[in-house]
Amino acid sequence: MTAPGSNLSKTNVVDFLMLITIPNVLSAADAAQARAKLEAADWVDGKVTAGYQAQKVKENQQLPEGSPLAVELGDAVLKSLARSPVFMSAALPLRVFPPMFNRYAGGGRFGSHVDTAIRQVVTTAQRIRTDVSATLFLTPPEEYDGGELIVEDSYGEHSVKLPAGHMVLYPATSLHRVEPVTRGARISSFFWIQSMIRSDSDRTMLFDMDQAIQKLAVELPGSPVGVQLTGVYHNLLRRWAEL
Ligand code: NI
Repeated sequence: MTAPGSNLSKTNVVDFLMLITIPNVLSAADAAQARAKLEAADWVDGKVTAGYQAQKVKENQQLPEGSPLAVELGDAVLKSLARSPVFMSAALPLRVFPPMFNRYAGGGRFGSHVDTAIRQVVTTAQRIRTDVSATLFLTPPEEYDGGELIVEDSYGEHSVKLPAGHMVLYPATSLHRVEPVTRGARISSFFWIQSMIRSDSDRTMLFDMDQAIQKLAVELPGSPVGVQLTGVYHNLLRRWAEL
């Protein structure tokens, strides 16, 4: 579903199979402005939204769900994502949880856990199945030590620490943690997506196929093979999508 000619291969969007980096969801300037507002906000203990197991390992702060600042900044994030072909192709979103915001400082961390499977949006009472997890980094990496997001999969552990305004998508089914922040503060937005494609591997195959189709459109413009593969992509989506 990416626009032809976007030439994703040169932007190194796909770091590895299941972790997908989406650069510039917010510009560096917009990320800095959001962070300035967040620094002045009233934070609460992050344990308020953690499940029983996660409560024991979660040491951070959060903006209260549905607070005016969270809604304002969250809407800006969602507007940007709606214009991102990579996000649409990678997540195939059905519902997106309103973005939340957290802050790690003074050794704060979030030990190894799997995200809660079903979450209810406070403001609308809508339930969302968390298929894909998203972290949007808002603090430039040079301003804090530690705070890496570590995602485990069958190939090992992957460490993620991105420039301000960049986002990572990873399977909500995976064990992950945030390393202790030992200098400065790490402010991020985090949220979940219920995908039209529940299975991580099916979603990944569709993403790979879409990427290949986009490359083909650049390398062999107007090729009937591209038309045929696009048809297969949509027919697989039609077969697998849950709405
Ligand atoms: Ni988590």
